[in-house]
Amino acid sequence: MCGIVGFVGEKDDALPFIFNGLKRLEYRGYDSSGIALAAQDGIALQKTEGKLAALGELLGALPSGIPCGIGHTRWATHGRPTDENAHPHVDCRGKIATVHNGIIENFQVLREELMAKGHLFRSDTDSEVIPQLLEDYGGADDLEGAVRKAEMRLQGAYAFLAISSTHPDRIVAVRRTSPLIVGLGEGANYLGSDFSAFLAATKRALILENGDLAVVTPNQVTITNLAGDRIERPVITVTWDIKQAERGGYPHFMLKEIMEQPDVWGDCLLGRIHEDEVVPQELGLDVGQLTHYKRIQIVAAGTAYHAGLVGKSLIERLARIPVNVDVASEFRYSHPILDKETMVMAISQSGETADTLACLRLAREKGLFTYSITNTVGSTVARESDAVGFTLAGPEVAVASTKAYTTQILVLTLLALALAKLQGQARPDLVRGLVQIPALGHTVLNRMDGIKSMATRLAQTHDVFYIGRGLDYALAMEGQLKIKEISYLHAEAYAAGELKHGTLALIEEGTPVVAIVTEHDVAEKTVSNILEVKARGAEVWGIVDEKLPLTVPLDHRLAIPIAEPLLAPVLAAVPLQLLAYHTAVAKGQDVDQPRNLAKSVTVE
Ligand code: M6R
Repeated sequence: MCGIVGFVGEKDDALPFIFNGLKRLEYRGYDSSGIALAAQDGIALQKTEGKLAALGELLGALPSGIPCGIGHTRWATHGRPTDENAHPHVDCRGKIATVHNGIIENFQVLREELMAKGHLFRSDTDSEVIPQLLEDYGGADDLEGAVRKAEMRLQGAYAFLAISSTHPDRIVAVRRTSPLIVGLGEGANYLGSDFSAFLAATKRALILENGDLAVVTPNQVTITNLAGDRIERPVITVTWDIKQAERGGYPHFMLKEIMEQPDVWGDCLLGRIHEDEVVPQELGLDVGQLTHYKRIQIVAAGTAYHAGLVGKSLIERLARIPVNVDVASEFRYSHPILDKETMVMAISQSGETADTLACLRLAREKGLFTYSITNTVGSTVARESDAVGFTLAGPEVAVASTKAYTTQILVLTLLALALAKLQGQARPDLVRGLVQIPALGHTVLNRMDGIKSMATRLAQTHDVFYIGRGLDYALAMEGQLKIKEISYLHAEAYAAGELKHGTLALIEEGTPVVAIVTEHDVAEKTVSNILEVKARGAEVWGIVDEKLPLTVPLDHRLAIPIAEPLLAPVLAAVPLQLLAYHTAVAKGQDVDQPRNLAKSVTVE
């Protein structure tokens, strides 16, 4: 978690660049932030608790015209979000400053050792040991040498940047697990936790790998390993446009990302279907890989896990290949039984989620084939997998995942259809149906007038239940997570048939229940469950396939035009996302940056 930015130029002012970079990285954490500049008479520092706007108020106190600096936006792990715990942290003499993303696991031991030597600690963080250690190793005079020595002592998963006021022409950067990218400019170079930090200035970049130490000056980037050997990393060109990373006129990134879904789905499908067949190579897989594996194990977290549940149902129904789906944080410690006939599939929007990554590495250690579905080219998950299918959704900035979820489902649907074909169960009708999804998406978005009044009603309640069967149950899981995370309502998802085994006791007069009914085979069963909750006074809001002749007295009905029930999840997800969005707006919550959360969870 946390976002880090660095700027080192020949003459330009680092300050505005760093502040703008932090704005783009705020999704990674936003409980405190700070900037340090390598001024010749010592480090100039401003940092504060609260969102980036609070730091903006303090920028006037920093000197202008300093061409070297670093910035940080934090998501707390060790120590509360306070001014003292905000980064950058400095050494005792104020000559070295560092920003850090990740966790230093042995910080207690190092802190005690450094305190015994007289170092003065001002924060409760693990991160503060870094500048103190650098000071101890003579970093004010030889920053690179000190970083190299410090690297030998630090344990954990992290990335950090260090500057020194005695050498204001360089940033020394280290990557050990947490992401770090160097942007290549003209007369200036940049560092960021992801591309968006410097996309306004350059599209050329180097992705640092684990164990890389980079010395970045205005005109040079020198990368070495821990032993000091030179390393070359390829220069890549990012295709994302900076405009894509902006709100495009919408009040929130989440709404923008919901509304752009039909176009994004078109991008995701482009080139992946040819003559009513899926092209496996466009999903990053060749036919040999697809036929070799007898089982699939999906690992993911949060919304990506919910996409995995949809994927399991589709792959099992269409291709008859058994699929397990596990929450990554559980799977990694579950002593899983894995064999060489199992393909391990990681799903992750960011490609940096620590638990998902750990599962991927576990699978690789056991010699298993790993496939990942991710949105982030160059992410650690993408680079450490044997094969990758990209969701091609463009940058997702809002913490609540929307377009990443629906494109994950699209890639999983394509995969299920490719596998089905290889098993002799081709479904050209479904492949044709997939092609219609972007157009149907526009129709769905044009029909969402009723959502705001539902949301206004929901905003006045405390609990809401989501029910469905089969794919609709998987969707219900995502619906309840979406509303919880941004509107802070208590929400639960239940398999509709399971309600009567306990949860029905919670239904009383006026309890809102969102019922999803797109699975034709079990629609009548779900209708019975709807009648059961209505009989106990529930107010039932149905998200239903428009073709289903439902006679059940729903209090609100949102009809979804779907080509085929197995393709419903992508379209039926939209009203669930919008319901969560408008409820959060009606409650006045911070939609894009909900409390206690961050976009990319790079800690366990
Ligand atoms: O980047 P990832 O897809 O690995 O992230 C996994 C979860 O942290 C993420 O889906 C989270 O649940 C979202 N905030 C949900 O909207």
